[in-house]
Amino acid sequence: MSLDVQALRAQFPILSRKVNDKPLVYLDNAATTQKPQAVLDAIMDFYTTTNANVHRGAHALSDEATRRFEKARDDVAAFINANDRKEVIWTAGTTEAINLVAKGLGQLLKAGDEVVVTEMEHHANLVTWQQACKVSGATLKVAPIFDSGELDTDAFTALLNTNTRLVAFPHVSNALGTLNPVKLLTAKAKKHGALVLVDGAQGIAHGGVDVQDIGCDFYAFSGHKLFGPTGTGVLWGRANVLQDWPVWLTGGEMIADVTYQDATWGELPNRLEAGTPNIAGAVGLAAAVNWFSALDTHAVQAHEKALLASAHEQADAFDGMRIVGTAPAKMGVMSFILDGIHPADVGYILDQQGVAIRTGDNCAQPLMKKFNIPGTARASFSIYNSLDEVDVLFSALRKAHMMLA
Ligand code: ALA
Repeated sequence: MSLDVQALRAQFPILSRKVNDKPLVYLDNAATTQKPQAVLDAIMDFYTTTNANVHRGAHALSDEATRRFEKARDDVAAFINANDRKEVIWTAGTTEAINLVAKGLGQLLKAGDEVVVTEMEHHANLVTWQQACKVSGATLKVAPIFDSGELDTDAFTALLNTNTRLVAFPHVSNALGTLNPVKLLTAKAKKHGALVLVDGAQGIAHGGVDVQDIGCDFYAFSGHKLFGPTGTGVLWGRANVLQDWPVWLTGGEMIADVTYQDATWGELPNRLEAGTPNIAGAVGLAAAVNWFSALDTHAVQAHEKALLASAHEQADAFDGMRIVGTAPAKMGVMSFILDGIHPADVGYILDQQGVAIRTGDNCAQPLMKKFNIPGTARASFSIYNSLDEVDVLFSALRKAHMMLA
């Protein structure tokens, strides 16, 4: 079954607006996705009918809010095939989820220990581990990628040894679109007893994430890249790892017993969720997950593949355009450079034509330096984009090239 893109689009109110008097062509989905009416309704309904704090009140509204909040956890747990609902920890997004792990790891590491990442990391999956290594005296090792943006898995494997405590890599690179063989990389790290964290920020919105099948210990993702609200996210972690993980945030909700001198921590998931959570956000994220789960995953992936294939095909035929990131396995993202034109200027000309893309270093400065470029322009696709929109992108690019090259 193929995806009915027009019917999908109709569910996203923002997609019918104009930008600079042109129909919006939204191709910045790796930065954030748009929200379907079902998500907007769920958030509005929560605040309209159920708003109260969770887990605390002796009143009906608090009880209802708690039930909706915890049902959201169940929905997310099912979506990623978590073994246990308490393995789903709410965070403000991928960055906070990775920080939660990295701050804890900083307390566990010692000199001589090693952490392995890759050259394609987003800053959120690099600076965090740099800091954990700095505070503990551990060493950060960086696995190289080929010029295509594909991970050099032999070099990655060669970096692993009995000192490796944690290995982190992206499911899909936000800058290059590279789809990593996460199951294989996890298995390699596990041979050495290392913990594995997958940065799922760009991997989650394409369907079919099964954390148990991957075999990792942590999977981090954001709600807003999955058709849900900003300020929401999830750290999934194995219960047997999370139950003893050093806590990062302390305060209400996460404690068991408190005296003026000391405190003990509660059980999962609360021990890692200090303070009032983003309750409406969790409800909105669950609505997004349920909305997305109702789509046919194969149709979603086939459609996204067709969008990227059309973009690559047109880029290959475009004299003066270079794609950055040509790994054989790619998803969602086409970063590129128009010869002789600064990416920011490309972005400006496209915006004048209603086409929204990202330009800049893609939150991956070391990677840009490796490629010896200041940054890229980046078009990133989602399920509601049409093949016609890919054509609009390229006619806008031809215009930019004509004006500026
Ligand atoms: N990490 C997001 C991106 O790649 C913001 O655009």
